[in-house]
Amino acid sequence: MRISFIGFMGSGKSTCAKALASDMGYQYIDLDHCIEENEGRTVASIFYEFGEPYFREAEHKALKEILANKHHDIVIACGGGVILNELNRQMLREHTTCFFLNVQPAVLTERLFFQKENRPLIRDKNRAEMISFIEQELSRRMTFYKETGVELLLDGHEDVHTILNKVHQHLH
Ligand code: S3P
Repeated sequence: MRISFIGFMGSGKSTCAKALASDMGYQYIDLDHCIEENEGRTVASIFYEFGEPYFREAEHKALKEILANKHHDIVIACGGGVILNELNRQMLREHTTCFFLNVQPAVLTERLFFQKENRPLIRDKNRAEMISFIEQELSRRMTFYKETGVELLLDGHEDVHTILNKVHQHLH
């Protein structure tokens, strides 16, 4: 089986994907990390040197490559913006069991404020700018997240085991 996690930056995709992969004996794959390996530079440096459209293209190629080449039994943590591309949404729906971690903007802001260094879209924003960016961007992306993954509505205080229980309930 191929499982993927989508959701906004800071929603806990990597944490859940790693824990689930370890539970199930699957391989954990971090999409941002694959992009960095393919491009030989960090996500932040790709954004700054080549711009977001280039990054989105590299993101699409990396996802396509994973789904074309890798064996089954993988858990993929996607970057928050993967669903902006229609083909990515289609691939995730058709070739993975996809979960959308839906976390409130206020919780995301609190988390992200201390984890913004390698995140070019929010790195230079102060708290007020971040809140308004997250609210706007999340609402712009919401339909895409919802049409791609099984929604797990989270209040942000659940521990990873509680979230994985919800995932397992859906898988069985
Ligand atoms: C992005 C999310 C990031 C990374 C890039 C763009 C986005 O991944 O792919 O900075 O557009 O939401 P995380 O969601 O893992 O932070």
